[in-house]
Amino acid sequence: MIKKCLFPAAGYGTRFLPATKATPKEMLPVLTKPLIQYGVEEAVEAGITTMAIVTGRGKRAIEDHFDISYELEHQIKGTSKEPLLDEIRALINQCTFTYTRQTEMKGLGHAILTGETLIGQESFAVILADDLCYNDGDAPVLKQMVSIYEKYHCSVVAIEEVPADKTDKYGIIAGNLIDGTDDTYRVDDMVEKPNPEDAPSNLAIIGRYILTPDIFDILRNTRPGKGGEIQLTDALLEQAKKGRVIAYKFKGKRFDCGAVDGFVEATNYFYSSFKGC
Ligand code: G1P
Repeated sequence: MIKKCLFPAAGYGTRFLPATKATPKEMLPVLTKPLIQYGVEEAVEAGITTMAIVTGRGKRAIEDHFDISYELEHQIKGTSKEPLLDEIRALINQCTFTYTRQTEMKGLGHAILTGETLIGQESFAVILADDLCYNDGDAPVLKQMVSIYEKYHCSVVAIEEVPADKTDKYGIIAGNLIDGTDDTYRVDDMVEKPNPEDAPSNLAIIGRYILTPDIFDILRNTRPGKGGEIQLTDALLEQAKKGRVIAYKFKGKRFDCGAVDGFVEATNYFYSSFKGC
């Protein structure tokens, strides 16, 4: 039912300068795989095969990554290196990649609105590739969210509890647990990056969303909010006021690979899982 996944990927990645001067932050590798490839794999595992990527200047490496590299493939054909391209080859064969460019950086809400041309009038998923999610045994986070969407047919945001002094790094929700669940909330308020004293809870939105297409009209009319940017959180609040947003406390781990600490933590975690330690 959810066929498309939007990846906002136009940001500068200033926290990783100078690495991100000429390399998109979405292409930074955790072990041998770029962040955005983890995101695309998660979308595929949720049954999605159309990737809608909102890029910007200096992001061409993303397009090249999800394309065939004839010269390279010719060079390593028949050698022991050939299987190293199996995973990315499988993604290229399975998925359609579509792109549009965000020419001005006016916030996450603006990036999503820029992607409208790739999505159209259907509900869609959003992955922020620098939130890297990992599951040991459970279904991938986006797959869990698709099941929630299929039950409630409204927008869904993934949440996790954060320490009270970290609320100013996230969109924070308030809501009530839906009867009979211990992980699914009907949202009635949300605030972008509130100071701890103004935060309605410690339930933070992480970079996984399912959005209904009316979000585009709302975003068109959303004024700049926190930091002078058009905030997705503000647009979602309009849906929440009508009872049309669910927050889901996902099962699994999430690494904030948009910051050096989280990136190193993810690298260590994946390395030890990979080595079986
Ligand atoms: C964005 C959203 C924020 C959300 C976060 C998750 O912020 O605006 O609501 O909690 O992603 O990673 P950013 O991290 O892009 O500043």
